[in-house]
Amino acid sequence: MKIAVLSGDGIGPEIIDQALRVLEVLRSDGLPIETESAPLGGAAYDQYGAPYPEFTQKICRAAEAVLLGAVGGPQYDKLDRPLRPERGLLGIRKDLGLFANLRPAVLFPELANASTLKPEVVSGLDIMIVRELTGDIYFGEPRGMRTNAQGEREALNTMIYSESEVRRIAHVAFGIAMKRKKKLCSVDKANVLETTEFWKEIVTHVALDYPQVELSHLYVDNAAMQLIRNPKQFDVIVTGNLFGDILSDEASMLTGSIGMLASASLNESKKGLYEPAHGSAPDIAGQNLANPLATILSVAMLMRYTFNNESAALRIEGAVKKVLAQGYRTADIFETGMKKVSCTAMGDLVVAAM
Ligand code: IPM
Ligand code: MG
Repeated sequence: MKIAVLSGDGIGPEIIDQALRVLEVLRSDGLPIETESAPLGGAAYDQYGAPYPEFTQKICRAAEAVLLGAVGGPQYDKLDRPLRPERGLLGIRKDLGLFANLRPAVLFPELANASTLKPEVVSGLDIMIVRELTGDIYFGEPRGMRTNAQGEREALNTMIYSESEVRRIAHVAFGIAMKRKKKLCSVDKANVLETTEFWKEIVTHVALDYPQVELSHLYVDNAAMQLIRNPKQFDVIVTGNLFGDILSDEASMLTGSIGMLASASLNESKKGLYEPAHGSAPDIAGQNLANPLATILSVAMLMRYTFNNESAALRIEGAVKKVLAQGYRTADIFETGMKKVSCTAMGDLVVAAM
């Protein structure tokens, strides 16, 4: 099990350290885990002058899975766009062909009060957002800023999807729905945008291969509203890169804390990049305050999706549930009456529970 480990920036190194301890438990219990570290994002810019340098590319290409902390920080915001940490993330997604981004929004029953929504609206919530990750307006050409014929400055991006791109992400989403409640909602803006009208047509066609899955369609504005109004109507949601970026942040807040949510980005051969859904939180970096659970839960997804090791995944998830049930909370999910712990202490507890 060759795993590249990219700590990244901000709280990245702290949360990755705790995830590495979880991997160490699995390794000492017999899994053939080998890890190799490399920088990504701002850390890579500092060391190599590029956010996704060749050194990191080599290690990531050779690995079967990549475990990532988070990238970004205010000190990099003034760099030229191609040098910014976010470009490192987009670069590795494109380089490794990680087109299928799985973002589960699962509410741990112990955290039902942490959501800003009423507990009855969110309790039992279990949504899987499948976001296309290597196409759409994020990568479409032409793009850029220019001066037009009238001498006025303008800027443009291109929203574009090919048939094969839509088809393959649709197959991933239907496949996941088949293993869950067999309900898939495809999100588009087909009333206005041709690309997404095309998206809807292809998804509807792929549905013929999955007669047991109940397919529905929502416009993205309505989907954003429905996610707040009645989130439990959803099982699996599939959508493009831009809409998926927005809806997955929205869905994460239903669960109370983005500090709990893992994610996987997979290519055609199940190679995957696993990372917490949250960012690098520069404001609390280095203070041992961060919540390592999303990263630890990302290790569970890594075991499940790349290595097909369901029992290791369940072992990690079970340990996290146990620690929450015992009342331990990092600051981001703390409520009165609970026991507040640091990032490293939360790591200790998960390791002990495993
Ligand atoms: C995400 C992030 C990234 C994205 C940024 C950091 C480039 O918001 O993973 O959702 O927009 O995809
Ligand atoms: Mg985002």
